[in-house]
Amino acid sequence: MSKKEQINTNNVPKHIAIIMDGNGRWAKQQGEDRIYGHYEGVNSVRSVVKGAGEIGVKYITLYAFSTENWNRPKEEVDALMELLVSTISMETPELHKKNVRLQAIGNIDSLPPSCIDELNESINMTANNTGLTLVLALSYSSKWEIINAIKHIASDAKNNELNIEDITEQHIQKYLCTKDIPDPELMIRTSGENRISNFLLWQLAYAEFYFTETLWPDFREEDLFTAVLNYQNRERRFGKTSEQLT
Ligand code: IPE
Ligand code: IPE
Ligand code: MG
Repeated sequence: MSKKEQINTNNVPKHIAIIMDGNGRWAKQQGEDRIYGHYEGVNSVRSVVKGAGEIGVKYITLYAFSTENWNRPKEEVDALMELLVSTISMETPELHKKNVRLQAIGNIDSLPPSCIDELNESINMTANNTGLTLVLALSYSSKWEIINAIKHIASDAKNNELNIEDITEQHIQKYLCTKDIPDPELMIRTSGENRISNFLLWQLAYAEFYFTETLWPDFREEDLFTAVLNYQNRERRFGKTSEQLT
């Protein structure tokens, strides 16, 4: 039986978040520039989006560029921004055909205008699609998002639009970039790094983590299926005892 056939279709995560890491090291192993790894990483994105759609995942969030990544050498940042524009423009027709809806989270205003334009065009074009929602985290960091949320909450409280006593978990959720997106049940990070690097701190509060040594440009839908199978063998207790779950 193939990996895909082994997946229990009744217990597929609705939302999978992925830290696509290891592009630079992958390129270095091939004796190439780091940028080459980023280009190759696009094939992995394509394969994972296809695989996720096939097994019935509803949301997939890809960490594509972090707030901290602005501190990389200018040539790498520029190349990543160019790659972003060209990839979105090249891939959107196919995504649209596959009924995928594109969204973005992060400090989108900080991206170059060409990126913003391309992104908005694709987001608008796919807005009514009802299949998989592909969320790109761009110029995103969780601390940035939480600071933003707190500023909005404080301002609403100051303007008497919000009672401090009324603030609940659901309320805070509404001030995050992911306000209309359910929390991920599964978070995957490639390349052997066991950290979350400022990604979805609030939203991952109860996610299952899956770390793999595979570098992002080598990651394919088969690897996604392996991660989902691993997820399906976990017991998610949410603070309860094992006995309470049965
Ligand atoms: C992930 O790969 C892609 C981005 C962060 C944009 P890296 O570029 O971090 O690759 P490594 O981790 O240096 O190998
Ligand atoms: C996390 O990867 C960010 C993205 C994948 C976009 P990094 O390579 O930037 O993270 P660190 O520096 O290893 O924590
Ligand atoms: Mg990295």
